[in-house]
Amino acid sequence: MRIEMLIGINIVALLIIIAVICFIAIKLKSRFAFNDKQFAQVNNYLNSINAFYIEVVNNKLNEISFEIQNSIYLGQLGFKYPLFLGGWSIDSFLAKYLVQQMVAQKPKTVLELGSGASTVLMARCMQIINNSYEHFAVDHEKKYLELTKQYAILNGVVEHITFWECPIQPTEEVKMLWYGGLLEKLQGKKIDLLLIDGPPGPLQKESRYPALPLLYPYLSENCTVILDDANRTDERSIIERWLKEYPEFDLVHEGSGHGIGVLTRNKLSL
Ligand SMILES: C[S@@+](CC[C@H](N)C(=O)[O-])C[C@H]1O[C@@H](n2cnc3c(N)ncnc32)[C@H](O)[C@@H]1O
Repeated sequence: MRIEMLIGINIVALLIIIAVICFIAIKLKSRFAFNDKQFAQVNNYLNSINAFYIEVVNNKLNEISFEIQNSIYLGQLGFKYPLFLGGWSIDSFLAKYLVQQMVAQKPKTVLELGSGASTVLMARCMQIINNSYEHFAVDHEKKYLELTKQYAILNGVVEHITFWECPIQPTEEVKMLWYGGLLEKLQGKKIDLLLIDGPPGPLQKESRYPALPLLYPYLSENCTVILDDANRTDERSIIERWLKEYPEFDLVHEGSGHGIGVLTRNKLSL
């Protein structure tokens, strides 16, 4: 009797142990399954971050390689003194765009707000394409206008450029700071190509906004307006305002480098 009881107790104990082991095994299995799911989620997340950074790095590498190509091709314009692009100056994407634009459009009158490398580039380009054109380079700072003149002399293109020093002043029409005396100098002129690369952004909010409303009467029918630094927030909102106020213009946004906004009158308005 005692032995049978002992056997019975042992069997019950064994069953309890087996049940506990089974319970623990089931719990561990579901716990591991949960962890596996979490690991898979973390893995997917890391993969997507990885893909994002690979794309960013690839895009940057592409941009750098285009910059190098552009600079090599621009050198073929035969500058006598190096043209330094980037930083405060136009980048090589805008430089390439300007060259292509000038070849296609052959503008008779060019106005540039913010002188520098762009001035020398456009003058050299027009010297090759067509000598009979007017090129007005505006700067609010004498120092930078003089520097541009020096680069133009070194490159043998100075006689094609008219340098206008127009100190920044408040304007009545748009109640913002802008190039003083410029409108008076432009009397009787019609601009075919307008490059807006000044005044500098930090001068005021939407610093370059006044250009279109103030220069509008001086734009020729087929004028092309190019705004540099169009990837900046301020320039984006300037373009939005211009398109609302002058719906006759269409916009093409080129996003490489500093970004450029190109406005031309749409066909319907002509
Ligand atoms: C964006 S920059 C114009 C650059 C010009 N279009 C070029 O391609 O070199 C606008 C104005 O900034 C001023 N500027 C130029 N270089 C500068 C510098 N290194 N530091 C501060 N202002 C500068 C000049 O008065 C210039 O008109």
